[in-house]
Amino acid sequence: ARPIVILISGSGSNMAALVEAARHGRWAARFGAGVVAVVSNRPGAAGLAWAREQGLATAVVDHQQHADREAFDAALMAAIDAHRPALVLLAGFMRILTPGFVRHYEGRLLNIHPSLLPAFPGLKTHQRAIETGCRFAGATVHRVTAELDHGEYLEQAVVPVLPGDTPEALAARVLTQEHLIYPRAVERLLAAG
Ligand code: GAR
Repeated sequence: ARPIVILISGSGSNMAALVEAARHGRWAARFGAGVVAVVSNRPGAAGLAWAREQGLATAVVDHQQHADREAFDAALMAAIDAHRPALVLLAGFMRILTPGFVRHYEGRLLNIHPSLLPAFPGLKTHQRAIETGCRFAGATVHRVTAELDHGEYLEQAVVPVLPGDTPEALAARVLTQEHLIYPRAVERLLAAG
């Protein structure tokens, strides 16, 4: 079996897209893979309730309950490793991970970032794209390496920046594409063995 664990911090719409893609794409039958658990650093993350309704195992590792990044990442690793994951997918997970964490999951850790990397690593990507005068924005699925928002790109999607766009409007346009490219990237990895 190839268990998949998803990490979230908020609404979890990418998580839901992944769970639904696994179901509709019959990842269990085709690849022996499936989403088994969702872990959040925020107890109130809306995506957690959805995951529970789907019958997925959920766990909360609250960063505010840990003294430092090392302690938080150690607890996070324990929660993840209980499921012996073949893949760990960051889906709107808003904590910076320690090099030790990244090394531990090397080769099986992916992230989705809401910009056309290498443009706009970090936060406020949509606002920065609008302020910079970009005509296009997008999203990137990439392997996670120790350097923030770096690592091999697996999929990218492009959307136009429209006249009068607000960060919220652009974010929504990008998000619909995220829901397509994240499952596609994972499915391609699974198919490659
Ligand atoms: C998504 O746009 C994702 O790309 C972004 O947060 C949003 C989460 O939405 N991730 C980052 O900014 C990572 N630094 P979701 O919870 O509905 O999937």
